Amino acid sequence: MKDALREACALLQQGEIVALPTETVYGLAADAFNPAAVAKVFAAKERPSFDPLIVHIASRGDLPRVAIVPDDIADYVNQLIGKFWPGPLTLILARHPDVPDLVTSGLPTVAVRQSAHPVFRAINKALGRPLAAPSANRFGSISPTSASAVIKELGGRIPLVIDAGACCEGIESTIISIEARPGKKPLFHLHRAGPITKEQLQEFGRVEKARETVGQLPQAPGQLASHYAPRTPLILLEKPEDFHPEEGKRYGLLSYTGADDGPFVSLHEWECIEALSPGSGKLAEAAIRLFFVMRRLDEAGLDAIIAEPVSETGLGVAIMDRLRRAAGPNKA
Ligand code: TXA
Ligand code: MG
Repeated sequence: MKDALREACALLQQGEIVALPTETVYGLAADAFNPAAVAKVFAAKERPSFDPLIVHIASRGDLPRVAIVPDDIADYVNQLIGKFWPGPLTLILARHPDVPDLVTSGLPTVAVRQSAHPVFRAINKALGRPLAAPSANRFGSISPTSASAVIKELGGRIPLVIDAGACCEGIESTIISIEARPGKKPLFHLHRAGPITKEQLQEFGRVEKARETVGQLPQAPGQLASHYAPRTPLILLEKPEDFHPEEGKRYGLLSYTGADDGPFVSLHEWECIEALSPGSGKLAEAAIRLFFVMRRLDEAGLDAIIAEPVSETGLGVAIMDRLRRAAGPNKA
């Protein structure tokens, strides 16, 4: 493994891009201070240049290299990173002028986090520079939670994928921005639901869903309504009675527990059933397996994937967000 880490560092130093594991999903990393390297990330992903990247720092001490934290939110930033870093919480802060325009898509803000994955951290630290890293999939497609999924998405386009097994969170980081409110706890604008839940954030401030558009432009363009999408149409079936199968079509079920007596499992003669959390139904396990299961169903040659909802509490909020976006704006 040590050789692979050395090779990753050498490539990143030369301005190359490398797929690396994080605790959430695999990322496609480039030296954040090298615009030519960052451009390769956009090209490999076929990502539009208006969709900014997350910058990953090796230690909290590196935060001032990429972001400016105004006095009025400094205490809140310290509390949040004290509790959740390293980990799957991304903060949107004012951008440091050293961060290239391409990374932030010209925005005055930058999204920053410190990954908890030991392999990612080791490379980030050894390089001594922040890493810009979006999820290592083609734009709009399902995020990869294993090295083999990265190869399916980007094989032939990138020089190296570091394989460290499956990701332990399974869905992308929670993204927030912070607003100070005189005499009150701060307001956290939730730009993307993720592994750090609303309930966890509420200990530190009030949480509100961020507006998704500013004028005509999406505020976090990765949050376009159709995203994380398999190639097979996915229908999120909020109620079993809404299912009207067409004659001769092949349907697969994305079930929560896969239990035989569940209202969705018993609805139809499914071509295949994949369970997010077989048997017991645990949201943390469902999050870990979500993109893996979606990918398997996508490869099963179905006419449509029918997804069962999960309860929208805790991690269920992020899972339902991904299912809705996979279903796209007009399909469910
Ligand atoms: O868990 C994660 O966050 C993974 C791993 C690799 O760290 N990364 C990830 O990156 O999910 P990506 O590029 O797939 O999603 C980043 C999201 C996008 O929706 C992007 O629009 C948003 O972050 N974003 C980045 N910079 C932003 C900014 N300055 N303001 C608002 N949204 C921003
Ligand atoms: Mg992504």
